[in-house]
Amino acid sequence: MAQLWGGRFTKETDARVFAFNASLSFDIRLLKQDIRGSIAHVTMLAHAGILTEEEKDSIIDGLGDILADAENGTLTIDRTAEDVHSLIEAELIRRIGENGKKMHTGRSRNDQVALDMRMYIRDEIDSFSGELKDFLGILLDLMEEHRTTFMPGFTHMQKAQPIVLAHHIGAYFQMFRRDREHLLSLRIRMNTCPLGSGALAGTTFPLNREETAALLEFDGACENSIDGVSDRDYVIEFLGILSSVMMHLSRFSEEIIMWNSDEYRFLTLDDSFSTGSSIMPQKKNPDIAELVRGKTGRVYGALISLMTVMKGIPLAYNKDMQEDKELTFDAIDTTRECIALFGGMLKTAVFHPEAMKKSAGGGFTNATDAADYLAAKGVPFRDAHSIAGRLVLTCIERGCRLEDLSMEDWKEAHTAFESDIYEAVSIEACAARRKTKGAPGAVDEEIKANREYLGL
Ligand code: ARG
Repeated sequence: MAQLWGGRFTKETDARVFAFNASLSFDIRLLKQDIRGSIAHVTMLAHAGILTEEEKDSIIDGLGDILADAENGTLTIDRTAEDVHSLIEAELIRRIGENGKKMHTGRSRNDQVALDMRMYIRDEIDSFSGELKDFLGILLDLMEEHRTTFMPGFTHMQKAQPIVLAHHIGAYFQMFRRDREHLLSLRIRMNTCPLGSGALAGTTFPLNREETAALLEFDGACENSIDGVSDRDYVIEFLGILSSVMMHLSRFSEEIIMWNSDEYRFLTLDDSFSTGSSIMPQKKNPDIAELVRGKTGRVYGALISLMTVMKGIPLAYNKDMQEDKELTFDAIDTTRECIALFGGMLKTAVFHPEAMKKSAGGGFTNATDAADYLAAKGVPFRDAHSIAGRLVLTCIERGCRLEDLSMEDWKEAHTAFESDIYEAVSIEACAARRKTKGAPGAVDEEIKANREYLGL
């Protein structure tokens, strides 16, 4: 068992204790960040006169070799190391000898792990920002394609008013755009460097914390060393944003599942993104959407778990905090896969504009427009509402749509109705005439704004 802290111990660690305490199996994911942080640390140590140029150079060369081997898959990982920090330090000493033992001067694993995790999440924010941008591109393409695909908009799961599919998808565009912006604003907020906080109380060495911060592309060193090693707020915030991405994917999944059903037939999922049943030969199931919906619980779980881990921890570092990693890594992998698969499923799905329009024509989605028609002619809206409501009742009794009523029927309801009422209650007009900003009739401007946001 390779440990960094044998000095004050007189007994070997119990094997189960070692295994329980060890984090190498999962924190090996921080290898790149750990090496990058160490290179910055020793560069600064040399500038501050704490290491000689020669010591610094040999450490940096050794670290560079370890990284190169890790990247091309030839690094032999000593599985008996406690964590990634011990692994790299032991490997460095094995490769370069005595100089390697100076790397950890003025540093603790507490500020080291705080740094690694911060850099890891910062990298993840950058890649998620790109992945979400691509996903928004898929949504924008669909919006372009379905500017005039009419469908019912729903409230309370009841058909409410006619919209176009571009408008519906545009709502998701805004949600995922906000998620992306949350990530980018978190990046700004969390971009301070904990290195130099030491175990909790800084160090007696004259470290230049601003230098390491700058070398690692932070905006500065964190103000308080205790906070520097104790803060995992940004991890929680990050998991909160991933949870929001998953929540949005899950809502969308729910709709895809319904729309793909025989009852709706708004779309057909591609065979390559569907699965079958072991018993029912006719089945083609929307498992991808269902799994995305299901995995949302798992990502929320990571968020709630970490909040629970953190809530009882006194300052400063406590080992409980090691629990942040598996949760976060799993949430990252899960969310990433869900974004990619959901995007693929959406891109290959075929929408059925005819069925959607037919559905929009049922359920009196144009009743508001009949009322608006009268109101526009001076009838107080409350009266107009009631007149249109009575016409709906007549239609229900006759089993017909508002469009099927005769001119006499309309006239009988109110003399202000003229023959242009048929145009006014057509599904196309109901959607197109709602031209206020953000409404279905203004979807072209919305598409233009989205295009600009994506820089397309
Ligand atoms: N594996 C530890 C973690 O993830 C690294 C820090 C260990 N620090 C310590 N004092 N034991 O939190």
